[in-house]
Amino acid sequence: MIGKDGKIPNAVNNGPEDRFILAVPDFLEKRLSAFEKESIHPRFNGKPLVLGRKPGTDAIILQSNDYLNISMHPDISHAQIEKLEQTGQDMVMSAVFMHDGSDKAIFEADIAGFAGFESAILCQSGWAANVGLMQVIADSSTPVYIDFLTHMSLWEGIKSAGAPFHTFLHNDAAHLEKLIQRHGQGIILVDSLYSTTGDIAPLADIVDIANRYNCISVVDESHSLGTHGPEGRGLVAALGLTDRVHFITGSLAKAFAGRAGIIFCSKRFAQCYPYMAHPAIFSSALLPHEIAGLAATLKIIRKGDDRRKKLHENAMYLRQGLFDLGYAIVSQSQIISLEPGTEPETELLRDALEERNVFGSVFCAPATPKNRALMRFSLHSGLRREELDHVLRVCEEIRDDTGMWNWKSTKRRKV
Ligand SMILES: Cc1ncc(COP(=O)(O)O)c(C=O)c1O
Repeated sequence: MIGKDGKIPNAVNNGPEDRFILAVPDFLEKRLSAFEKESIHPRFNGKPLVLGRKPGTDAIILQSNDYLNISMHPDISHAQIEKLEQTGQDMVMSAVFMHDGSDKAIFEADIAGFAGFESAILCQSGWAANVGLMQVIADSSTPVYIDFLTHMSLWEGIKSAGAPFHTFLHNDAAHLEKLIQRHGQGIILVDSLYSTTGDIAPLADIVDIANRYNCISVVDESHSLGTHGPEGRGLVAALGLTDRVHFITGSLAKAFAGRAGIIFCSKRFAQCYPYMAHPAIFSSALLPHEIAGLAATLKIIRKGDDRRKKLHENAMYLRQGLFDLGYAIVSQSQIISLEPGTEPETELLRDALEERNVFGSVFCAPATPKNRALMRFSLHSGLRREELDHVLRVCEEIRDDTGMWNWKSTKRRKV
């Protein structure tokens, strides 16, 4: 209510000029203050740790998930523009009202064929795909087995479904099997390629356990769709496991360079999903021009063997170079992380890299455990050898000043 003086009670004039901001109650005030105290005030630049300086135009940027370097491909933008310019029956609405023959359905059939699955469900994001899938397949009486490093969206899905869960040690199939023997048949969740460490799941062993114990298997292929396997069909396909896995999910905001997610599944499941998963029912579907862009992207990805070859060559070169410099590298892929561990050490590393024009992504809590903060380099196929050599020279130059020899990860390094 506005007071007699024309002002809102509790309004504080802490904005510019006469802009008043309504004071928040104590419970929110405390949460914001705690965040600022823990995550902003200790930082030299007064910003959260993930934000260092802004890269200039000549910076080497290792932050994007556009692994095949196709986001600016003219075929994609032309397809989007053409669709935007078409006049038609396209509507802005939830996918539950869409019929057969929609752009969405056509793209889903196309990408399902690509992955070797009967059906596919196009979602608004990888996050929506994982949360929606878990809402449909999990419940309060079915145990969920989840690798410790599996993506947050699957954890959120477990929470949303109210499912009991058991965490198994990272990439430890024997531990998974022990847990299933103790708690019974359920749902197994893994990423094919882990987004913080860049290492790859022992998929053959995990799928074997899933099949033997009659469990449902879900593999998040966000970081391997497009980059791995024949025509970029992913790691499950590369290993010949497609007909032994129930669900593959993925973000199409990585190698597919768009804003969408996907679930590969059976036709029966795809028919029910849009009316059972809340992100599908209560949130609007992608727009036709976004789908047109993805359809063009799929064609580029299928023909992208040269880009994949270059990506993997780049990744192998940088991994080996960093390892030779003494860094503890667990990556087996295009995601390569240096792990200082503590936040102040990671801030030091970030600044040392950025001062020398190398920009990676800082990952810290809640994306990693509190003392496992790291600097992630995401490589792409367009990086030139001179650029990788610059990164290696910088990483050599800063080893002592950043305290690399004393990082916990360096001490854990096996060889
Ligand atoms: C493994 C994994 N799954 C799911 C997601 C969520 O994808 P999106 O960004 O499309 O919501 C991400 C993105 O960070 C991811 O890395």
